[in-house]
Amino acid sequence: MKALVTGGAGFIGSHLVDHLVEAGFDVVVVDDLSMGAISNIKHWEDVTIYVADVCNDEFMQQLLADERPDYIYFLAAIASVADSIERPAETHAVNHTAVFNLLEYIRQIQLPIKQFLFTSSAAVYGNLPELPKREDSRVAPVSPYAIDKYATERFVLAYGELYDLPTVCVRFFNVYGPRQNPSSPYSGVLSILTDCLKYQRPFTLFGDGSQTRDFVYIQDVIQALWLITEKRVQHEVINIANGSETSLNGIIKMYQEIAGQSLEIKQAEQRGGEVAHSVASIGKLARLDYSTEWPLRKGLTKYWEGERADA
Ligand SMILES: NC(=O)c1ccc[n+]([C@@H]2O[C@H](COP(=O)([O-])OP(=O)(O)OC[C@H]3O[C@@H](n4cnc5c(N)ncnc54)[C@H](O)[C@@H]3O)[C@@H](O)[C@H]2O)c1
Repeated sequence: MKALVTGGAGFIGSHLVDHLVEAGFDVVVVDDLSMGAISNIKHWEDVTIYVADVCNDEFMQQLLADERPDYIYFLAAIASVADSIERPAETHAVNHTAVFNLLEYIRQIQLPIKQFLFTSSAAVYGNLPELPKREDSRVAPVSPYAIDKYATERFVLAYGELYDLPTVCVRFFNVYGPRQNPSSPYSGVLSILTDCLKYQRPFTLFGDGSQTRDFVYIQDVIQALWLITEKRVQHEVINIANGSETSLNGIIKMYQEIAGQSLEIKQAEQRGGEVAHSVASIGKLARLDYSTEWPLRKGLTKYWEGERADA
């Protein structure tokens, strides 16, 4: 079996690549290394890596024709809401057009794939009050990032239904764990908190800390992606999350306890457009036999131990 992972040198992609290699897949990665790094991939010597832009249609088409992957996992993206607001056209090219063009090419050449998995985001739900977010809850994407994710999902599903392609979409909630790049000011809050604890830097808290998120550890994300692959799920949107809600204040407290250190906290104004509360319903995932193996305290402890060992 051969798998193509776009964005495979990034945070989630590199963990997926590790898992696929360990499961015996031939793995091909396309990543322009704008955020990722080849060193993120544990078994990089066993992986075919193309440092290339997914927006390069000619390259991507040649790649599909040459490599003919059975599974395609599309993770390459400008993965930041704030970046998408600053650079909407560039974001749109990567987060939407590149995915659409690849699907269209698959349709044209009738590539016999077993699964095309697109990675969307909880951002599509926006700031509506209904909780927990079910896959059929109302959506209210507001940023270019969220709009692109939602529009792309619709195309991915429509291509699945209209042209009988085995497509599936996942909506990640707040994923955390090793290799999340903390250098961007818009990275996941846990990678920033980790850096602040590690290097004793002050942490900037936007708002009063009562905002809640559904944090999911990377190994549970991989468990979910693998179940979706093994069970050949298609024509669905599936939340990938922990299914529990934690406030920012709660997580700061827990992380300080785990690290045995206290953080200097700088208070700042709440950022405009920030979602107040977020938690997923994970019923669909549970029906695939998913169960959380990494509750927050366990995941954070593992993450912190790994980070400390690297320091
Ligand atoms: N991390 C999260 O909590 C989260 C939440 C919701 C959705 N997602 C989605 O999951 C996917 C993976 O996210 P991540 O957290 O691993 O982000 P990441 O930034 O670590 O990974 C994205 C990868 O894509 C690569 N990339 C970016 N533009 C590219 C281009 N034009 N051509 C080729 N490669 C390109 C980057 O170099 C990087 O390695 C993204 O689609 C993201 O939108 C992530």
